[in-house]
Amino acid sequence: MSSIVIIGAQWGDEGKGKIVDYLAEGADQVVRFQGGNNAGHTLVVGGQKTVLHLVPSGALHPGVRCLIGNGVVVDPEVLLQEIEALRARGFLKDDSDLLVSDRAHVIFPYHKKMDQLREERRGKGKIGTTGRGIGPAYEDKAARMGIRIGELVESDLLKKRLEEVVPEKNLQFEKILNGSPFSVKELFQRYSEIGSCLKKYVGDVSRALYEARCHGKKILYEGAQGTALDVDHGTYPYVTSSNTVAGAVCAGSGVGPSAIDRVIGVTKAYTTRVGSGPFPTEETGEIGRRLQEGGGEFGATTGRPRRCGWLDLPLLKQSIRLSGINGLVITKLDILSALPTLNLCVAYRFRGGRYAEVPSALAPLEECQPEYETLPGWKENISDVRRLDQLPNAARKYLERIEKETGVPIDLVSVGPGREDNIIIRHPFS
Ligand code: GDP
Ligand code: IMO
Ligand code: MG
Repeated sequence: MSSIVIIGAQWGDEGKGKIVDYLAEGADQVVRFQGGNNAGHTLVVGGQKTVLHLVPSGALHPGVRCLIGNGVVVDPEVLLQEIEALRARGFLKDDSDLLVSDRAHVIFPYHKKMDQLREERRGKGKIGTTGRGIGPAYEDKAARMGIRIGELVESDLLKKRLEEVVPEKNLQFEKILNGSPFSVKELFQRYSEIGSCLKKYVGDVSRALYEARCHGKKILYEGAQGTALDVDHGTYPYVTSSNTVAGAVCAGSGVGPSAIDRVIGVTKAYTTRVGSGPFPTEETGEIGRRLQEGGGEFGATTGRPRRCGWLDLPLLKQSIRLSGINGLVITKLDILSALPTLNLCVAYRFRGGRYAEVPSALAPLEECQPEYETLPGWKENISDVRRLDQLPNAARKYLERIEKETGVPIDLVSVGPGREDNIIIRHPFS
């Protein structure tokens, strides 16, 4: 197995960063292929916490190359800060440790402003975005009004493109959004400087990946967000603005489907969601509070409290189908310790009907009642467990039930935030 995709199988924050960091030990390259700095991926190594928003989660392994594919939208200021912080700690030492696609699109301040103003205008119906300008940057890409990294790093090109794009943006701000205009001159000054700092990292990611694969290199593709936030298949419009399914690896990094050997879906042992939108198994009472406090469920990007609830198997099965997931990673099993009983959602009930699949329309998902199967809990702290047979019987039964219902084997169970806090059942690279 040389090329593995790691994606979130819920609404994001499943623990992808931790898993990618652990698996990166055996990898040569780690690639981000969609999203931007709406992502917040937490790595805990030797007790030290690192949160990465744009740089792939292989960065803490010297010798592992990090690549940012064309499908990512890059806030160059955030990228530069992240690189500098990592370099100050002795990581990303060589310029060749990071490669950013010249085709990736740039997030400018007007994208962030637009994101924020739109949310304000939506009022109660707001999406609850991260406010990082992700949606407006993808809009510009599709509208052929985007500015790419390859243009950011060539000052004459940057100037020309800003002159073409910014006047139209300003019209939108002045006439529709009630915002103040942006100055081409100021944007150019600030961004040409950032561009010149980033230039040494910019190149052709698709080509680099092709060559790496020809040389038998091991590659990890690191998803951001989760399948239920996919712009096509998620809970639209309460979604992010990119495709988060495994298929996005191909368009977002410039490789063909035959270049992918395995797809691993990461899911928490329960469910969380940040931002607005339907969440059938949400628990707003005592259980929700216990999961939130016990799991430290506060966003790694915005610090917002995450909504919490039981594991939703129809949602997980949908992710498995959409991304061709053939191995599962279950994270945060340790957080379920000491709950007397555990609920697993096996179907939705809506207006007298029973649905084992996620409906594509929003209303049934908003109004449905989850149908639960109740399993016994366990009392023991399992954070130090490293073998499946050392888990309490009830924890093993819980995992077995997930495997049976989904038909997909569990490769790894995570029982703590640290890099090594894992029960390995089948190593994905084996
Ligand atoms: P990502 O966006 O999918 O990378 O996930 P986040 O980093 O946003 O959120 C996952 C949170 O759970 C982080 O704080 C991790 O350190 C933490 N975490 C990951 N796996 C485990 C686990 O198995 N147990 C516990 N207790 N924490 C975990
Ligand atoms: P990681 O990679 C959880 C959510 C936002 C909002 C919706 C749209 O850390 O799992 P956006 O800013 O993308 O336009 O917001 O998507 N969202 C995430 N939720 N984890 C993430 O990333 C997210 N990235 C975006 O909260 O509901
Ligand atoms: Mg996160």
